[in-house]
Amino acid sequence: MADLADRIEALWDRAPDLSPSDTDALDVVTEAIDLLDSGEARVAEVDPTTDQVVVHQWLKHAILLLFRLRSMETIEVGPFEYADKLPLKHDFADAGVRVVPGASARWGSYLAPGVICMPSYVNIGARVGAGTMVDTWATVGSCAQIGEQVHLSGGVGIGGVLEPAQAAPVIIEDDVMIGSRAMITQGARVGRGSVVGEGTILNPTIPVIDAETGDELARGHVPPWSVAVQANRRRDFPGGEFYLPCVLVLKRLTEGQRHDKAQLNDILRTHGVSM
Ligand SMILES: CC(C)(COP(=O)(O)OP(=O)(O)OC[C@H]1O[C@@H](n2cnc3c(N)ncnc32)[C@H](O)[C@@H]1OP(=O)(O)O)[C@@H](O)C(=O)NCCC(=O)NCCS
Repeated sequence: MADLADRIEALWDRAPDLSPSDTDALDVVTEAIDLLDSGEARVAEVDPTTDQVVVHQWLKHAILLLFRLRSMETIEVGPFEYADKLPLKHDFADAGVRVVPGASARWGSYLAPGVICMPSYVNIGARVGAGTMVDTWATVGSCAQIGEQVHLSGGVGIGGVLEPAQAAPVIIEDDVMIGSRAMITQGARVGRGSVVGEGTILNPTIPVIDAETGDELARGHVPPWSVAVQANRRRDFPGGEFYLPCVLVLKRLTEGQRHDKAQLNDILRTHGVSM
């Protein structure tokens, strides 16, 4: 893989000169995107020793090069017509994935066995772990990393990030439940086993406050095994008092504990897995 990374970086250095007529370059990039598609490579991961997010920039570069190297194509499905540069994923049944009509996942995203996609969208470079439910109208942005046994409830927006290449994508760790219509963007992170309430906005500038102690925790990061909801904090400006959003950690769960309301996940998943 190191050799492929070097070849991608060499192409990246001359990206402005590349066009769809460079078929050799497209072959190299296709090799990298196939690795993302099969799950053999991933754009980012949490280093288990440092707990820091490591971003593999060359894979992001491969995605950006792909857009430069592929031409627009018209795709027709029954009465529908689309025009795009990228194909969609294929072979879901072989991958053990259930994809309900209306769901789309682009080639270069990875869906692990047991994933269920209700009518939703998974963009290139995103990775969705085993047994995860991507519920109706949820969107998983480019390069977002979603763990195993996660529930992204209806309408959840997981932001994507391609540029700048070093920017960390959103990380949702294993066993997380994200409530309906929450928006998790710009490299925010939700720790393992946590429950995030409906409508929560989380990005790296949003303060995360522990309701028990009043302590301000790392911004944009819901700690593992916690229940967090959307809240507001008062801020004084020359123009008056305004309430800006924050995320409040209502309570801590013990490691391995499922929040009562998260048990819905298990019911939905059990129901969904019977393909
Ligand atoms: C986050 C959540 C799990 C909290 O549940 P809980 O731990 O049982 O908390 P409670 O319902 O006891 O509420 C505790 C407090 O937080 C507040 N609260 C609860 N959910 C909230 C939310 N989403 N946003 C803001 N405040 C919330 C409650 O008003 C309550 O305030 P109070 O103490 O002043 O009465 C739940 O509210 C939630 O959002 N679940 C997601 C549901 C969902 O999206 N399901 C999708 C199914 S497809």
